[in-house]
Amino acid sequence: MFNREHTDIKDKELIFRDLLSTGRSTMLALGKESDPICEFALSTAAGLEKTPRLLESRFLYDARGSEIYENICAQPEYYLTRTEASMLDRFAAQISRITGSVTLLELGSGNSAKMDSLFREFLEQSSRIRYLPVDVSSSALRQAGKDIRRKFPDVHVIGIHSTYEKMFPLLSCFSPSLILFLGSTIGNLDEQETIRFFSRMTRQMEDGDFFLLGIDLVKDPALLEAAYNDAAGVTREFTRNLFVRMNRELGSGIDLETVEHEAKYNPDLRRIEIAARFDRGQQIRISPLGRTFSVRSGEKIRTEISRKFVLDEMPPFLSAFGLELREVFTDEKKWFGLLLLQKTRPSTLKPIYDA
Ligand code: AVI
Repeated sequence: MFNREHTDIKDKELIFRDLLSTGRSTMLALGKESDPICEFALSTAAGLEKTPRLLESRFLYDARGSEIYENICAQPEYYLTRTEASMLDRFAAQISRITGSVTLLELGSGNSAKMDSLFREFLEQSSRIRYLPVDVSSSALRQAGKDIRRKFPDVHVIGIHSTYEKMFPLLSCFSPSLILFLGSTIGNLDEQETIRFFSRMTRQMEDGDFFLLGIDLVKDPALLEAAYNDAAGVTREFTRNLFVRMNRELGSGIDLETVEHEAKYNPDLRRIEIAARFDRGQQIRISPLGRTFSVRSGEKIRTEISRKFVLDEMPPFLSAFGLELREVFTDEKKWFGLLLLQKTRPSTLKPIYDA
């Protein structure tokens, strides 16, 4: 793995341009935290100080968490992955016709499992294509890179171990591009974070670049709640794994038997809210900071939100960032939406939103 932690943006741009020209598949870490445990400890302590308490969902995805998430995607109640994958199979040809030949850049790529039909279609247009999966899990990136190289030797893969934010300043290196943000991962950001995400990303996109957004749509709350409370208990394990990680990395000393998973739909905010409920009081230590937090019996700590969307509301919202709708795709049940957008002009939002 290529790891240059202290290079600035210009150096990174040069590294990228070099990698792109060699055509060699590889993996690159962008500005890794100098101390990931310290970052986890600080974020956890900040979240435990809030009322109500909440933890940053990005920490759910350690190697084990990424594995459990893949397993969630295969659960019968979790319709999101299946529905989106079959839509991509069905609409990949149309998508590739609209975008023409572009670099594919996937934010939050995980195991890259949904890309196959797009690779096939884009390989119909060009003999060799470029794919940049961006993810915070290096294990998922490594495995995805191997799988893609085996199945599609003509896909030049450059895995990028990074948060989205760190990737944005480099987006122009890959233009013309199709940036993919699938799986309704946008729903894991709250409203302010979503505005910040689009504001920062679109500022770095070149005019003409495309964006494909997968969103889970508002539907019967019973279906939504079932998707986050699967019968096999995989989502429960996903929530608990965050506390397993805290015990291992932060010496938190949590009795895992007291941690219960809870996922409920909040219709006012149109979102699933996932929390860990503590059945008995606990003292949670954040050893690297020498701090301890008392959690009462029955108290909940939020670990994730998953917002649900109304299809018609999205194009006007995205247009404020200079993203114009090119095509909208949905499934027969209208459970999931795929929006193909194109950057056509600058954002009309005031810079206050960029903070
Ligand atoms: C990654 N993300 C889109 C998932 C979701 O549906 O919000 C994460 C997840 N958490 C529990 N189940 C799935």
